[in-house]
Amino acid sequence: MAGKKIAVVGSNMVDLITYTDRMPAPGETIEAPRFEMGCGGKGANQAIAAARLGAEVMMITKVGDDIFADNTIRNLETSGIDTRFVERVPGTSSGVAPIFVEPSGENCILIIKGANAHLSPADIDRAEEALKDCALIVMQLEVPLETIYHTVALGARHGIETLLNPAPAPAELDASRIETLTFLVPNQTELATISGMPVTNEEDAEKAARHLVEKGIRTVIVTLGGRGALLVSAGAETRRIEAIAVKPVDTTGAGDAFIGSFARYYVESGDMGGALHKAVRYAADSITRPGTQKSYASAEDFQAFLAGLEASPSA
Ligand code: RIB
Repeated sequence: MAGKKIAVVGSNMVDLITYTDRMPAPGETIEAPRFEMGCGGKGANQAIAAARLGAEVMMITKVGDDIFADNTIRNLETSGIDTRFVERVPGTSSGVAPIFVEPSGENCILIIKGANAHLSPADIDRAEEALKDCALIVMQLEVPLETIYHTVALGARHGIETLLNPAPAPAELDASRIETLTFLVPNQTELATISGMPVTNEEDAEKAARHLVEKGIRTVIVTLGGRGALLVSAGAETRRIEAIAVKPVDTTGAGDAFIGSFARYYVESGDMGGALHKAVRYAADSITRPGTQKSYASAEDFQAFLAGLEASPSA
């Protein structure tokens, strides 16, 4: 995939995952059966998913000055990710995410941004030459909003395609500063916040996404969790990408698996529909295993998963 490099401008976190039979009530102490620590953060997750599937990936992020930093950098490097623009912030902790997963596979996440809060527009400027070699810049919102606006503008200036996953849902987002995005990939809650329109069902989601497309964003992809995704593009009919049924074990990082794999297949082929078809499947496969990045399949294992689906009538 020469010349098809993906840059991820975003967060990294250490995921502290507790598997619990139920969430405690306020003031209550309960015992949980299992705990796991792993690499996470929406940015790093998306970078790892794309790299694991064979994409050439570069990451711009900040780690802290603590025991987690080396492990995070090593994890990116062993996945083949270019870490020239991963910097340490002295006197600051790395990002950390306590996560609780219930038997249904559903999760609740708290994030402490730590060093991620220090990723600045100047850091993006330092990487400008390297970014010019990228086909797509992927972003999320676990780093300062001003840095994201700056990156979107840089992408537009150099004709680089840009994708924003507006997660966590921002309290406020200046729509005029993200109009040049190629892709906005929200879930329904994030879409409601950004569009200022109610989104309680798929019909609402289509209307709100269409509204954003009319304002300039070329394509809005609405993730619908276990129900697949909606693709709303300028000058084209809305397309529905159907989900596939799997038994969920842990849904943590499924949205990131979706975006990382979409980025990887999109830069290779330019075919949005085909990339989304694969992304829905990659994310579904990831929720059948515990952990965040740990649950992301290699290219080889994903091919085997797809082959298994083709052999089954419900695929
Ligand atoms: O999207 C899942 C991710 O959200 C976790 O890895 C956690 O670190 C938070 O960033």
